[in-house]
Amino acid sequence: MTKKKRSIQIDKNNFFIRKIYFHKYFILVYYLICTKIIPKGKGGDILKKTAAVLISIMFLMTLLIAVNADAAATYIGAKKCKACHMKQYKSWEATTMAKSFENLKAGVKAAEKKKAGLEDKDYTTDPKCLKCHTTGYGKGGFVSMEKTPDLAGVQCEGCHGPGGDFHQIMKKNKEFPLAEAKAAGLIIPSEDEKGCMTCHGGDSPFIEKVDAKYKFDFKERLKKTHEHFPLKNKH
Ligand code: HEC
Ligand code: HEC
Ligand code: HEC
Ligand code: HEC
Repeated sequence: MTKKKRSIQIDKNNFFIRKIYFHKYFILVYYLICTKIIPKGKGGDILKKTAAVLISIMFLMTLLIAVNADAAATYIGAKKCKACHMKQYKSWEATTMAKSFENLKAGVKAAEKKKAGLEDKDYTTDPKCLKCHTTGYGKGGFVSMEKTPDLAGVQCEGCHGPGGDFHQIMKKNKEFPLAEAKAAGLIIPSEDEKGCMTCHGGDSPFIEKVDAKYKFDFKERLKKTHEHFPLKNKH
């Protein structure tokens, strides 16, 4: 692809847009009051005009957010986490997960692919492989190397959940209650073996049956995700 498709991008995390979207019903009530109830007296025209402007904004936002539901990803990518979690990032970067996308290229790990019943060809656009070798594929995250290069490989959000909302909570208050971050989507991986198994089991070509080295021992694997550092605050 050489031509880039033009599309309207709405940042769902933008404060102003969220406020308007959140208050859409209040705006609707305000509109009804301004146009139906008050206009009997004086000043009705100005009120009608402001109400019309507000209602137009409201409809536009609702429409744009609905249309862009997929484009407005809540996955933010490891680079954003890195800004506040440098130590975990450095340690994760050294694991095979960080470079997991490379394995989909032709010529890489040809012997391992053959053993698992795969061919030695380019798999970098195969949706079957992408769902496990990228971050958030099919869930508003990774789309393609052209569009979302920062979400290639198995990143932080593959284990900790999409960070669009929970990183805002971390940013606002270093002592955030853990329950609040969890409610905003944060996953504590040791509580989510099922989450690991969506990639380490199921239809993965690289399971214990193919080679004992692919066995997934949850407790052992938890230790090898990245190095852990004590938190400074209580959560
Ligand atoms: C989105 C899919 C996905 C999820 C979810 C996932 N993994 Fe993985 N993981 C992979 C892939 C793919 C690799 C292999 C990387 C490679 O070689 O391409 C891997 C590799 C690993 C490794 C080896 C790292 C190394 O360098 O030795 C560990 C440890 C691991 N995963 C632990 C976990 C744990 C624990 C969970 C759950 C909390 C988990 N993974 C969830 C896809 C996933
Ligand atoms: C259901 C998830 C899943 C799917 C689908 C999947 N993989 Fe993986 N893949 C994994 C996991 C997990 C590992 C790491 C296994 C481990 O180290 O225990 C892995 C490892 C690999 C490896 C490295 C093996 C090694 O010994 O170093 C290659 C190469 C690879 N996958 C290629 C592919 C290709 C190509 C496809 C698509 C045809 C694909 N995978 C589909 C989850 C998946
Ligand atoms: C393969 C899964 C996995 C991936 C990928 C992953 N983590 Fe973790 N993370 C864990 C586990 C396991 C813990 C330990 C907490 C628990 O689950 O009880 C943890 C804990 C943390 C903690 C708490 C402090 C600490 O050091 O234990 C932070 C902060 C963190 N991760 C940030 C990150 C960041 C940033 C990335 C990406 C650069 C990342 N994680 C990628 C599994 C993962
Ligand atoms: C603006 C800074 C910032 C960003 C960006 C950020 N975090 Fe955090 N995060 C924090 C702070 C501050 C803490 C609390 C650290 C402490 O108490 O020592 C924290 C704590 C955590 C914890 C530990 C939660 C607990 O109580 O067990 C995890 C896991 C975590 N972050 C993951 C992530 C991931 C994954 C990303 C990226 C999607 C991310 N963070 C982005 C600031 C941030």
